[in-house]
Amino acid sequence: MCGIIGYIGKKNATPILLEGLRRLEYRGYDSAGVAVTDAGALSLRKKLGKIDEGLAPLLREQPVTGQTGIGHTRWATHGVPADKNSHPHLDETGRLAVVHNGVIENYDALKQKLTRAGYTFKSDTDTEVLAQLIGDYLRQKPSSDAPSLTRAVCAAVGDVIGTYGIAVISADHPGVMVGARRGSPLIIGIGEHENFLTSDANAIVPHTQKVVYLNDYDVTTITASGFEVENLGPETASVQISQLEFDAADAQRGRHAHFMLKEINEQPQTVLNALRGRLDFAAATAKFGGLNMTAAELRGVDRIIIAASGTSWHAALVGEYLIEEFAQIPVEVEYAHEFCYRNCPLEKNTILLVLSQSGETADTLAALREAKRRGHRALAIVNVVGSTIAREADGGIYMHAGPEIGVASTKAFVSTLTVLVLLAVHLGRLRMLAAKRALEVLHALNALPKQLEKILEQTGLVQKLAEKYAGAKDFFFLGRGYTFPVALEGALKLKEISYIHAEGYSAAEMKHGPIALIDPETPTVFLVPQDAMYEKTLANLAMIRARKGPVIALATAGDTGIQRVADDVIYLPKTLEALYPILATLPLQLFAYYIALARGCDVDKPRNLAKSVTVE
Ligand code: AGP
Repeated sequence: MCGIIGYIGKKNATPILLEGLRRLEYRGYDSAGVAVTDAGALSLRKKLGKIDEGLAPLLREQPVTGQTGIGHTRWATHGVPADKNSHPHLDETGRLAVVHNGVIENYDALKQKLTRAGYTFKSDTDTEVLAQLIGDYLRQKPSSDAPSLTRAVCAAVGDVIGTYGIAVISADHPGVMVGARRGSPLIIGIGEHENFLTSDANAIVPHTQKVVYLNDYDVTTITASGFEVENLGPETASVQISQLEFDAADAQRGRHAHFMLKEINEQPQTVLNALRGRLDFAAATAKFGGLNMTAAELRGVDRIIIAASGTSWHAALVGEYLIEEFAQIPVEVEYAHEFCYRNCPLEKNTILLVLSQSGETADTLAALREAKRRGHRALAIVNVVGSTIAREADGGIYMHAGPEIGVASTKAFVSTLTVLVLLAVHLGRLRMLAAKRALEVLHALNALPKQLEKILEQTGLVQKLAEKYAGAKDFFFLGRGYTFPVALEGALKLKEISYIHAEGYSAAEMKHGPIALIDPETPTVFLVPQDAMYEKTLANLAMIRARKGPVIALATAGDTGIQRVADDVIYLPKTLEALYPILATLPLQLFAYYIALARGCDVDKPRNLAKSVTVE
């Protein structure tokens, strides 16, 4: 959840760290801090609050310079958001600094052991324990053969149970920065006479697009001129230099007021990116490069479990309907964190499919590792190239949606749905799906980018509706069949950025209890496209109206009758039933965005949240 960055080179590290932290802030923004070493001294600046409220003004008042430095932006796990709990944390001497992303599960036992050895602590964090532990190892032997900073880090992380992605510097070890990872992402950025460490390539893309993705148990020793990697686990260190797929401009907000609005507006292009090179009209199928499974192996799959979290879990629900409809393969959707620990039965030809925008979600990574541990193939649909899930999956499909910075996931969700339609067609065509039906889907997919552009033209209408309903305290989002998961997603978007209580349900479920909550103050967003469920969904809508609940309907263009039974209507272009989730989501994203704006919320950095949940 946190963001870390390190720099070593010839320039003043501080502005580079600060700019990198601003790019990492979507990973957590409870507090931020930097530490730099210069001429044998270590300077530390850290502050509660977002960078522009805390750390940036502090650095203006009390600037620090140095050519080696580390920085951190925090999403609090151990210890409340406070100056003292902000990173970087120092050891007893105040000459060694650590920034950390992850959770040290045995920190209390380590803290007690260090306390007995005479160490004192200034914070409530697990990270400070790690700083003291590294410092302790540095001082364990007489100074004549004191270990190097790298050896002390290796010894300290060997005592740790839990997850970490860390960067370490020391005034007593000038010109070197040490990084280590287990369970949290860590990337080396390779520059010209300068090098970087970061939890997310977004932070360093203005300086370099050459990176090395570190693996679990890797420890790296970095200088201005180079780096070494060793592996403390069973693998030998494998250093592979990769080229980032995106540049600094991609990760900028540009002309938009917020990243979320930019990413909503990018969706015609990102759906095109997801489709590019994958529509095979001649064979009436979809094609992929990285599934790493033969046609025979894919035909042999007799059950698919889709595991994911949050918005990606909603996409998984749509994926269930798609794959069962087009490929007739039984699918079960699991919350990743449930799948890991409930020991569900897996047959021989069951495979796991994980969905993740970041490719770093700890719950989802744990599910992938659990399936592989039990000897089952694990595929992944991921956005971030080179992410841990992408690298550990047996095969997969990239969304190519580009960096998604807004904490509320938008374009990645729609790209995941697009890829899931392609996958369902691919699997179906290896089985019983007729070419004619498959071609209908491929042509409907091809029409989506233009249809999404059409929906974006209704932004003004959606903004008006958002402002009309922004004062509501509770919302329902209802749909049936393919649009039921979209109702769940619409509710999550609204609650996570506007803090309004919102619930998504299958429209048919309301009469089994939740309809008791309907009253004139509780609006319902109703997904009621002209699909196979249309008549039944209309009947459910009538039940809401009969209890004077306000209704905002998302309906199919040309359906004028809906205006008689809804207070407000947003029209969607006609498409196949299976593709309505892709079109219906966009207005719900805009609706949540403009309500949050009307309520003065921080749309890109909503309270209590972070973009990539790398703790279980
Ligand atoms: C979505 O708006 C949320 N930010 C969150 O639910 C997110 O979808 C979830 O944490 C999963 O993230 P992932 O797709 O990167 O694995």
